[in-house]
Amino acid sequence: MAIPSAFLDELVARSDIVDVVSDYVALTPKGGSYWGLCPFHGEKTASFHVLPDRQLYHCFGCGKGGGVISFVMELENLPYVDAVRLLAKRAGMEFPERDMDESSRRKRARLLALNKEAARYFHSQLHSPVGREGLDYLRRRGLSKGIMTRFGLGFAPESWDSLIKAMAQKGFDKRDLLDAGLAVSNQKGSIYDRFRNRVMFPIIDLRGDVIGFGGRVLGDATPKYLNSPDSPVFNKSRNLFALNLAKTTKLGRIVLTEGYMDTISLYQAGFDCAVASLGTALTADHAKLLSRFTKEVVICYDSDTAGVQAANRAIPLLEKTGLKVRVLRVTGAKDPDEFIRKFGPDAFSRLLDQSENYVEYNLRQIQSKYDLSDPVQKTEFAREAAGMLAGLDSPVEREVYAGQVADLTGIGKPALLQEVSRARNSKYWAAKKKQTRRDMTPVTQVQPRARQMRYENTRSARAEEGILRLLMLDGGLIRETAGLEPEHFSSQYLGKIYAVLRRRLLEGRAIQLGMLEGELEREEIELLAEILRQPEALEQGTKAMADYRAILEAEGMKKQVTDETDLLALRDKLRQKKSI
Ligand code: CTP
Ligand code: MN
Repeated sequence: MAIPSAFLDELVARSDIVDVVSDYVALTPKGGSYWGLCPFHGEKTASFHVLPDRQLYHCFGCGKGGGVISFVMELENLPYVDAVRLLAKRAGMEFPERDMDESSRRKRARLLALNKEAARYFHSQLHSPVGREGLDYLRRRGLSKGIMTRFGLGFAPESWDSLIKAMAQKGFDKRDLLDAGLAVSNQKGSIYDRFRNRVMFPIIDLRGDVIGFGGRVLGDATPKYLNSPDSPVFNKSRNLFALNLAKTTKLGRIVLTEGYMDTISLYQAGFDCAVASLGTALTADHAKLLSRFTKEVVICYDSDTAGVQAANRAIPLLEKTGLKVRVLRVTGAKDPDEFIRKFGPDAFSRLLDQSENYVEYNLRQIQSKYDLSDPVQKTEFAREAAGMLAGLDSPVEREVYAGQVADLTGIGKPALLQEVSRARNSKYWAAKKKQTRRDMTPVTQVQPRARQMRYENTRSARAEEGILRLLMLDGGLIRETAGLEPEHFSSQYLGKIYAVLRRRLLEGRAIQLGMLEGELEREEIELLAEILRQPEALEQGTKAMADYRAILEAEGMKKQVTDETDLLALRDKLRQKKSI
């Protein structure tokens, strides 16, 4: 988000959170802070808290919290930039429309150019002596040379800086590489290649631009896949692997898989209609995107329980966009890739034709939970199935599938249809009630996400939170952080927030929660608001900082010991393997 930072800082400084919130919520002062009824969830007693000295809001009821910009984003249901526009108008400041468009356009163009060069580089490495192992690996997995080229597959050499060096020659610097997620910085601030000794899958968007990469290890090391982080050009929840190819398929549907390899295998076998999500669950944005290019989606996930669960979550999202949804279950193989390799394209084609529509699929799922030879369970099955059928809007569909349930159970169809309509009525009332409740609440309710972030090392994380709180409350304490790097934090979220705070403070800029909202994710802001809300004794800030740092160091040391032990164990294992 390239809104000039000086503008943002001034805007936030001019937009007092109590003033802004008061435009929407009646606030009552109490002991230096303010309370009101939370605008984000219906409530009768005030649990919405605004703290003027920390310029933050927080609701004890629903867990929402943040600074002045996120308040407007949530309440008006606006994206970041539009919330800033609205606040600017309110503060009588002119929004720097032109700077912003120009600089973010330039940044995007630069990152896309870099990704393209990087993809070229990886591809050239695959066909050079360095890439031998990568090429062998892809061949072993049955990929032809033509397919590798079609997908622009590549290889990232086992080196800390080969990409960085190659890109430097093309005029790209450290900042570009970090922003594109192609490099990572270490504790001393020097940078190294993110992808090392991996086969590389470029992710290409609908315009043909390379927006990110997935990289797979050659062996069994973890993580198996490493993906580019989200960046100004890459958003995992809005893009699908290979949609640039599948969008022109003549096969009349799109097959949705879990993995890069599934999609590529299918393509090689003649199914040029496969796409994959990028290591994340399917989102509503993905569903909308798919519905622009096809009328029918066939979900073809892995055959394990995770795959079944993921399919169950994806179905309603796809359905909602009006897509026809079918579910294909691979049998005798763990995923479509393995299936094709074992049984061939014709077998897959048959599966595709037999794939069930989602109602049949759901019915079968429900059926698998009951033993229909047992009369009690049979009745239970009929009841649950009727409940599912009640959710179908088409009376014809309800009729047809009630017939199927009747056949399965031997219960008469009229009795079943009656059960369906009874379930429909109660569903109707439940939905209606929910709707009324929603109408009274200004924005859709979201889970307090900050709470969902789990800490790996709670003791260290509490100290890390303390450090952030101290810096937010007294920026001068940045002097006490010499030698402390974001990578020393056990929580990557807290480390990231620290990096942002430190950069601002070293640049001599002010920090208020609202000023950070363009640089941090929504959930990170929520987390920071929660951290800031906790009390902190500032009189002894220096001492407190030293104490927190000591905890971090002690916990970090413990971790290092286990990491090194792992390394030693690994080395021993490798030695044993060699000697066999
Ligand atoms: N994935 C990921 N990070 C991991 C593991 C998986 O991002 N550590 C994503 C990748 O996009 C991958 C997909 O999830 O393609 C499916 O994962 P999985 O089923 O484990 O991989 P396969 O596609 O079966 O990979 P392979 O056949 O290479 O083993
Ligand atoms: Mn798989």
